[in-house]
Amino acid sequence: MKLLAISGSPRKGGTYKVLNSMKEKFPDIDYEIISLKDMQLKDCYGCYTCINRGPEYCPLKDDRDIILKKMEEADGVVFATPTHTRHVSVLMKKFMDKLGYIAHRPYFFDKYALFIATCKGFGADMANEYMSSNIGQFGFNVVSTLDLYISTKSEAETQYNIEQTVQAFEKLISAIQIGERSKPTFNDLVYFHIFKAISELNKKEGIADYEYYKDKTDYYYDLKIPFYKNRFAKWVAGKEIKKFSENK
Ligand SMILES: Cc1cc2nc3c(=O)[nH]c(=O)nc-3n(C[C@H](O)[C@H](O)[C@H](O)COP(=O)(O)O)c2cc1C
Repeated sequence: MKLLAISGSPRKGGTYKVLNSMKEKFPDIDYEIISLKDMQLKDCYGCYTCINRGPEYCPLKDDRDIILKKMEEADGVVFATPTHTRHVSVLMKKFMDKLGYIAHRPYFFDKYALFIATCKGFGADMANEYMSSNIGQFGFNVVSTLDLYISTKSEAETQYNIEQTVQAFEKLISAIQIGERSKPTFNDLVYFHIFKAISELNKKEGIADYEYYKDKTDYYYDLKIPFYKNRFAKWVAGKEIKKFSENK
């Protein structure tokens, strides 16, 4: 089993330490930590090329694909960030922007994810909600989110955080071993229909989305969805699309 942790901290501080302490707790697991601060990630300048044409046409050449390859090779990915002003760190946000096109064309359906946000007092829940809902859209089975409080740095606090992280890792490992895909939520169905409808509306410019969705009907992969649930999801998606196309 392969686990990859991606740390969005701009330093090797508390977030990294907690991730690193898992090495000795799970010695039999092939486990690697990537610190985004050590990777070259150029700022996305919003040209839409990755979304419209495909990530291979991105004009920014950097370490994006090195990280992506490691994510694809892992069974489970731990996304960790310090809370910065009640949000993910700038590095984590940059990383998410660079991979944002995957929310259009998700494919991590057989991978499992754990999200960790560290903080001193409050805001980790917001950072985790933001990170897990967005990266969850890449197709990941979201196993859990963990808010860690690193304020006193006392031995008791450190031990408590390590225990919490061990439990979260155990949950992740167990989900990988069971190997079931999580059931799509109603929102997942709505998102699917929104993106599929947009891919039709924007097929001239958005060739990559069009190619991805053109043969898909009810969901990203073969799945029996109750007829009325699917119709309702399509209806909600239609209303959402109407909302943002009314201004045109
Ligand atoms: C710029 C900045 C903003 C921060 N904002 C928050 C915050 O909104 N809420 C909070 O509880 N802690 C906040 N913190 C504290 C960090 O989240 C906390 O110390 C974290 O564990 C640091 O992780 P690191 O040691 O891996 O960098 C902030 C720290 C920095 C440097």
